[in-house]
Amino acid sequence: MTQTVFPVPASLEASAHVNAETYEALYRQSIDDPETFWREQAQILDWARPFTQVKNTRYSPDDVTIEWFADGRLNASYNCLDRHAAVRGNEAAILWEGDTPGETKRITWSELHSEVSRLANALKKLGVKKGDFVSIYLPVIHQSIAAMLACVRIGAVHSVVFSGFSSEALAGRIEDCRSRVLITADEGMRGGRYVPLKKNADAALEGLPFVEHVLVVRRTGRDVPMKTGRDRWYDEALAEVPDTCEPVDVSAEDPLFVLYTSGSTGKPKGMLHTTGGYLVHAAASFKAMFDYHPGDIHFCTADVGWVTAHTYLIYGPLANGATIVLFEGVPTWPDASRWWQIVETYKVNIFYTAPTAVRSLMREGEEPVRKHDLSSLKVLGSVGEPINPEAWLWYHEVIGGGRCPIVDTYWQTETGAVLLCPLPGAMAQKPGSAARPFFGVRPELLSSDGTPVEGEGSGSLCFADSWPGQARTILGDRERFLKTYFSAYPGFYFTGDGARRDADGYYWITGRLDDVINVSGHRLGTVEVEAALASHPAVAEAAVVGFPHEIKGQGIFAFVTLKEGMAESHDLQSDLVRIVRARIGPIATPDRIEWASQLPKNRSGKILRRILTRIAAGDFENHGDTSTVADPAVVADIVRRIQLQP
Ligand code: WTA
Repeated sequence: MTQTVFPVPASLEASAHVNAETYEALYRQSIDDPETFWREQAQILDWARPFTQVKNTRYSPDDVTIEWFADGRLNASYNCLDRHAAVRGNEAAILWEGDTPGETKRITWSELHSEVSRLANALKKLGVKKGDFVSIYLPVIHQSIAAMLACVRIGAVHSVVFSGFSSEALAGRIEDCRSRVLITADEGMRGGRYVPLKKNADAALEGLPFVEHVLVVRRTGRDVPMKTGRDRWYDEALAEVPDTCEPVDVSAEDPLFVLYTSGSTGKPKGMLHTTGGYLVHAAASFKAMFDYHPGDIHFCTADVGWVTAHTYLIYGPLANGATIVLFEGVPTWPDASRWWQIVETYKVNIFYTAPTAVRSLMREGEEPVRKHDLSSLKVLGSVGEPINPEAWLWYHEVIGGGRCPIVDTYWQTETGAVLLCPLPGAMAQKPGSAARPFFGVRPELLSSDGTPVEGEGSGSLCFADSWPGQARTILGDRERFLKTYFSAYPGFYFTGDGARRDADGYYWITGRLDDVINVSGHRLGTVEVEAALASHPAVAEAAVVGFPHEIKGQGIFAFVTLKEGMAESHDLQSDLVRIVRARIGPIATPDRIEWASQLPKNRSGKILRRILTRIAAGDFENHGDTSTVADPAVVADIVRRIQLQP
């Protein structure tokens, strides 16, 4: 099959921050002389005390050290706010579009500055100090950004928990970082439905007596119970404190935030990011990868609960002084033209979303798109999972009018910011490829025996050296950090993904190699879902695998065995779905639950997911090497049951 290649548009080549020539030169410099390269890049920020050391990083088996700009001092809220408010306070920082069409808010740099300062003062009054953790459980409203910036203004560390997570998931994440303060809202609004945030928060806090204060944003204004002595309305707490608050200088290596993500064991990992390196990488990569120029309007559709929003909705854009569109709702409500209406209304120039959304909107046809003028768009972005060429071409043609480059950005919660992507003025795009490394990034493909693959080939995607935005540890579990990322291939950071490199040096991500599935761009550990299923009293054992899903990329397929005497039924299936939604959240809803009288295991009792993955994908013949299966009849039985399904 011949490969379609989309060249850099001539207009961009001339005007872009980075073109083909400068990319090659700068990339070389970033590898040969990272000190000079990053020292210059770091000037994108204002430093309260300039750093003298740039990089102190090592991935050796007995010493993993990750430090960037370590003796510099700065404040992230100052960089994202004060320096812009000072020169163009009356311009828009946030253009907020509520779930209900017509409900909008324009928040200027000055307004955001004063709200952040008030909230910072209110937090201080509640006893929050430098280094304390504050949990945030809010919908996509400007107060969630204010809350993040207020924390970092006083040196506190935020932990944003996706508002679609259940109370149990919230409780686990509060308990892990032991925050004494939670910021939430009465309710959220999504697709015309109310999300009971305060109610979930109350349930989460039942077993967490160390949470002393809850600030509650009035979003819908409907009645919610308030616990005397613990709960306060956000607006009232802000009204009684001054609207100025000096930002505190923190060390570049002081923590900025923790964000939880799924791994291959049941417990989510709190990825800890620090201030200086993260903000340099976020700001510099935002500017380069979307070719941001002052005045551009940026719309990233990610929810504030994910890393994509942390880096490319909030920190990267705001550090650059970009005006952002913040959308509370969903792309298909009231109808499938909602995003395109927003693009037209705000004359959006940069649009960043996930392949799963592109696929679901593609299904709605072109009509909802054609109703709107999308001529303001200049650059499109994709993130979270591989984008299939069909969706890529639709995105390019129908949304981008054939003129906008698509920046397919590969990165992770752990990496903090982008590692691979086609810089729009510098690289031709190949649909489905995340192209080439960002500056300073050294990808390697390693074969299973650990030898690097040269030239064309496939292997485990690893990185040979650190980059500034890299997570420094897993909160409270350094051992797990070292084991997860640095033990499989000593001397390298291992991503958990597989990839292929083509003859042009372009990278193609082939998917996760571990027990993590990527459902609509959201990471879920199979073990988390299995644990939720197994918590049902009727369940003996469950195995969960991903399977190809037309819209979500990967769906969740659960194989469940019941305890002796328990009957298989539709009601029980519904119960199991309910329990998963309650323990994790709706994003973890299994797409298929199949009963199995037993699960295939090897002789030492380990479940053979490899075989279940093949069966879930509809491949009933080829189970690969089955010599390790303790009882082949088990596999045959599962296949027979699935084939009997209508
Ligand atoms: C996958 C999201 C292919 C990958 C920023 C990675 C991608 C995981 C891409 C991280 C991409 C992310 N192409 N796969 N452009 N971007 N992934 O932590 O499997 O939510 O390891 O970070 O998503 O997901 P996370």
